Amino acid sequence: MSEQRGNWTSNAGFILAATGSAIGLGNLWKFPFITWENNGGAFVLVYLLCIAAVGLPIMMAELLIGRRTQKSAVGALKEAVGPAWGFVGLWGVLCGFTLLSYYTVIAGWSLFFFFKTAGWMVGGFPESTSLGQVFTEQSANGGLQLGLSLAFSIATVSVVYFGVQKGIEKIARLFLPILFAILLLLLFTSFAMEGSGEAMAFIFRPSFGELDRGSILEALGHAFFTLSLGMGAMITYGSYMAKHQSIVKASAIIVLLDTVIALVATIIMFTVIFTAGLQDQVSDTGTVGMLFISLPQLFFAEGVVPFGHILAPLFYVLVALAALTSTMSLLEVVTSYVIDEHGIPRQKATLMCGATVFMFTILAALSFGGASFATNLSVPGPIGDLFFAGKTSWFGMADHFVSNWMLPTGGLAITIAAGWVLTREVSESELVDETTPSWFNYSAWRFFIRYVAPVAISVIVVAVIFFGVDFS
Ligand code: PFF
Repeated sequence: MSEQRGNWTSNAGFILAATGSAIGLGNLWKFPFITWENNGGAFVLVYLLCIAAVGLPIMMAELLIGRRTQKSAVGALKEAVGPAWGFVGLWGVLCGFTLLSYYTVIAGWSLFFFFKTAGWMVGGFPESTSLGQVFTEQSANGGLQLGLSLAFSIATVSVVYFGVQKGIEKIARLFLPILFAILLLLLFTSFAMEGSGEAMAFIFRPSFGELDRGSILEALGHAFFTLSLGMGAMITYGSYMAKHQSIVKASAIIVLLDTVIALVATIIMFTVIFTAGLQDQVSDTGTVGMLFISLPQLFFAEGVVPFGHILAPLFYVLVALAALTSTMSLLEVVTSYVIDEHGIPRQKATLMCGATVFMFTILAALSFGGASFATNLSVPGPIGDLFFAGKTSWFGMADHFVSNWMLPTGGLAITIAAGWVLTREVSESELVDETTPSWFNYSAWRFFIRYVAPVAISVIVVAVIFFGVDFS
């Protein structure tokens, strides 16, 4: 079986693929907005702490479980930790499935805004247009939403179909450098804009008075989401790693790149917003508003972004590429489970999984007014309140359940597996060898994975259950 499994062709290929999974809508869509909502500075500092103290050790744990067993989430946990732990892997597969079902819809919006802004670039921006209205109309147009999501699903399936080397790694190698280049170009442009000083101060000047308990928990929850942890994605990617690759070094690079990109994206967005003086509008339109309402408008506003009409479509290419390198890792979690545990060949497994996920993507795509049954879907009563915070629509319920329940509980189980069930010999032999960088201290890792991470995650779970905190 292991002979048929793909392997990354090189360390760089693996690092790019895993970084591609981590960098996604979480960095461009969620992080800037929650930073905004939580007043920057102190929140960013807490987030960085969560990334270092919880995210990095769990990244190493997931990769080591995958590499040790050379199996995807379910098989890996069964073999490394014990047969009963297969359920944790299955929980992860289900989480990947659910997340993919609605992530694709937001990814589809980036395609829409690419075409829209490209059209405005050529034909000029119609001054009377209300971007809020453009957004609402496109998201309520069921046929359009289905078309966009289908296009994005086909792109995702086409990558995973060709496997680890010829699909995932190849696309990551091609797209990640383009993504970095576009982001760098946008960053340099933003430095030339007058709002950049104010934006930097907002993001990096901590004022602890603004911080509350909810902000700390939100930072921790987002650390999981942004690093693709808690659902076996990194176990799966780790299963294609070769023995001579350093898990410690790779984890550090992935975590660092993901964090830098989230900060760079935030600097760019805030610079544009401060330059145009649109702080109030952003606060009113929420997460969606910042990426799909305020920004397109600002790219075309007179004297805000230099060459804005050219950079606008480029920006949505960036969003689409970042989303694709994440959706392909989500589909890989589901597909590799079907391949490994049910012995179905990759091509067939990819088509089967892609089609099944798409059934639910249909519900997510129609959740914004496209069809009333999807928009008004809800689970009534106390169960609905506890698990879905009374949200209506498949999109709202799935997003809430994944962020608040699936990722934290999956993450907690994986942390306990790696810290308390896996023996010291096993984890040490995977993490420490001649490739390990000198700054790494195994005992410190063990302390973080046994104590710091599980306690921190337990706090989240308790907060969700007893205090009704919402991370979605
Ligand atoms: N890390 C991705 C983001 O920040 O958008 C989301 C994600 C992708 C989570 C893949 C989990 C995953 F397996």
